Amino acid sequence: MASQIGLEGYEPLLRISTFQTVRKGLFFGFNSISRIGPELLDLVGEGAKLLLVTDKGVRGAGIVDKVLANLKGFEVDVFDEVETEPSIECAERVAAIAREGGYKAVVGVGGGSSLDMAKIASIMVTNPGKVADYLGRGKLKRCGLPMVLVPTTAGTGSETSPNVVMVVGRAKGWISDPRALPDVSIVDPMLTITMPPKLTAGTGLDALTHAVECIMSLNSSPLDEAINLAAAEMVGKYLRIAYSNGRDLRARYHMSLAAAMAGMALGTAGVVYGHSIGYTLSTRYHLPHGIACGLALPYVMEYNAIACPEKLARVAGAMGVDVRHLPPREAAVEGAKAVKALMEDVELPTSLSELGVPKGDLQELAAEVLEKYPRPNSPRQLTKEGALRLYERMWEGKIGD
Ligand SMILES: [Fe+2]
Repeated sequence: MASQIGLEGYEPLLRISTFQTVRKGLFFGFNSISRIGPELLDLVGEGAKLLLVTDKGVRGAGIVDKVLANLKGFEVDVFDEVETEPSIECAERVAAIAREGGYKAVVGVGGGSSLDMAKIASIMVTNPGKVADYLGRGKLKRCGLPMVLVPTTAGTGSETSPNVVMVVGRAKGWISDPRALPDVSIVDPMLTITMPPKLTAGTGLDALTHAVECIMSLNSSPLDEAINLAAAEMVGKYLRIAYSNGRDLRARYHMSLAAAMAGMALGTAGVVYGHSIGYTLSTRYHLPHGIACGLALPYVMEYNAIACPEKLARVAGAMGVDVRHLPPREAAVEGAKAVKALMEDVELPTSLSELGVPKGDLQELAAEVLEKYPRPNSPRQLTKEGALRLYERMWEGKIGD
């Protein structure tokens, strides 16, 4: 077919591109939280009983009160016991509460953990059995209760993705299913301005990792790439400012937008080995998700530079590198260096040695990434030797030399 229509080398154009994101609407902008009442009224009617899923930090910061002030006329139960990096046991607890309460809709308020647990509350009311029955891709039987998500960080992209991530034993497990997509997401950058610098940096790197990894993915469509290049450009321009001054509204606005955009391709293009490596680091050394994945990102870009040089050259351009006179492969490596420089500027670790990871752990980490987190959508597969070399580069903190 390719020879008939002259599309050799343009595989994405030969597939049907799927784009799955928020079902009913994404409301974005300062004070968009005021839309939550009318949207829920439209979804479930006046006086409906709602379950609001959040964590104690978000509640303590006064954000839940702000949301509740916009939910007058509804009966709202608040569950604020979501853990950071929630376990499957936490998910089962949320599922039990959601099933017992007779709720008409679920509202998630918080970072990725709270939004993911809100998805669990929604889907486990309409799907029988245990959370573990649905781990993997596309296993849900039906859509969940109407769901509205309100992110309070700018990074995880859970508000626009069909993914739920949780800790299962000593590994990360996930559900990825369009039936877990939110009906409505309300992205109000004003809710992110109290985020401390370190959380801003870590979650911002998560957004950048989503954007760049989804571009590298073999399943990336032209639409995914366009959206994610724009997201990467925004992170490159605004993360340093949001980190330096959390009250800079322009920076917060663009970081929230970048995160929501980068979340859109998570269920279709999907992330690659940066997240796999991030999972090995976050489970073993208790690193926050965004910091662990962000640390892996420039090294995975360097590893993939021979596999998708043009794509990565475009990423480099989006990150502000002058790529006009560089061959694509060199530009790709410069892009990896630009990501590392950004991480240094926002004071995140850029090597495993800096984190105190013993060099003797690298063999085990390399074996674990291959065994537990394969990525058939990666443009370059990891071999045993390749995985070890990648971890060694990460340990040394070396890119491009
Ligand atoms: Fe992520």
